[in-house]
Amino acid sequence: MSNGLKNIKTIRDFEITGKTVFLRLDLNVPLDNGKITDETRIRAALPTVQYCLEKGAKLIIASHLGRPKSADDKKYSMEPIAKRLGELLDVEVVLMEEPSSEGVKHILYGHMRKQIICLENLRFDDGEVENRNDLAQGWASYSDIYINDAFGACHRAHASIHALPEVMQNKGIGFLIEKEIKMLDSLTENPKKPFIAILGGSKVSDKIPVIEKLINVVDGFIIGGAMAYTFLKAQGISVGKSMVEADKVKYAKEMIQRIEARGKTLLLPVDHITSSSFNDVTNLKLNPNVSISENEMGLDIGPQTIKNYVSCLSGAETIFWNGPMGVFETKEFSRGTFAIAEAMAKNTGTKIVGGGDSAAAAEMSGFADQMTHISTGGGASLEYLQGEKLPGLEVLRPRKQSEANPGVKSF
Ligand code: 3PG
Repeated sequence: MSNGLKNIKTIRDFEITGKTVFLRLDLNVPLDNGKITDETRIRAALPTVQYCLEKGAKLIIASHLGRPKSADDKKYSMEPIAKRLGELLDVEVVLMEEPSSEGVKHILYGHMRKQIICLENLRFDDGEVENRNDLAQGWASYSDIYINDAFGACHRAHASIHALPEVMQNKGIGFLIEKEIKMLDSLTENPKKPFIAILGGSKVSDKIPVIEKLINVVDGFIIGGAMAYTFLKAQGISVGKSMVEADKVKYAKEMIQRIEARGKTLLLPVDHITSSSFNDVTNLKLNPNVSISENEMGLDIGPQTIKNYVSCLSGAETIFWNGPMGVFETKEFSRGTFAIAEAMAKNTGTKIVGGGDSAAAAEMSGFADQMTHISTGGGASLEYLQGEKLPGLEVLRPRKQSEANPGVKSF
């Protein structure tokens, strides 16, 4: 059992009125030419931000955005996000020119109600990903309370996630992290049965730890996406030119045996939507058989597979979904993924979507608002679920329990 939120304070535990709160958020939203194309993460952060404003805290918001190579990479500026926050909250958001700007102190001095300070993209300073103490000391010099609500970045031992809380006395989490952890814990601690995990995406290797973690908890796995072809190959089925992880075929074979030995369900595709290449939507075919011919590759699950998966999901009480069933970004290969989203929407049990691509797919399908929870963290939710300690959470526990220095975790 994970330590969950044990011994971690929440924002409610602090008297924040009149205090300077350094709030680390994950406002890493997709942008297209400076326009925000999905503001889910901004909206998910609002409850904590609003709470701070209502309590009259002096608020400093900090986030990374993308993976800029340098501070000159202006397409990664926080400007559009600061602007959107101002609109959503009806407050003035002052964007600092640099993440380590000393100017913050002056603004705090003359701070007004309905004003938020937003630091520029934290990754404009190398000290952030290097988890550098000097950067953290600068932020700590003007902050009374540190609150982390950046669930999606908790798996990164970066300065704003790790070095800063390491040197802060008063530290805790916001409402989003609290909700994320409770939801993810509900999957592994007495979930309602039957519990079905839907795993998709391109690589089996990305999903091995989560399969290992869930194998004893779930009643069945539904497998889709390119990773399904590695499983089919492990059963001796021809998959043509479909993407296969050759070095994981043996693992897939063992996994099939282990799942069967436990009397659990394993559903794999029985038909496919194929084409001759990844980008070719003009020659797509419905392949009614489980095997795929030499010159074809599977790019989505077929109609019979959809029926099988939907029928399995209709009886589930708990569903966890991570990874699309096909190349859903291309309309022609999106049917399987959207059918999963629809089946989850119709289910009345607990339905949790594990961030990343599946969150984007749930959003695109139009069924996002019918899920119990959609995690804002892709990598973070998987790492947490597979039982790894997240540096951003561990550092918030009383010292003897936290690891002294987890080092820098590269991307
Ligand atoms: C995410 O998008 O998963 C988080 O914001 C973390 O971003 P990163 O993978 O660039 O650290």
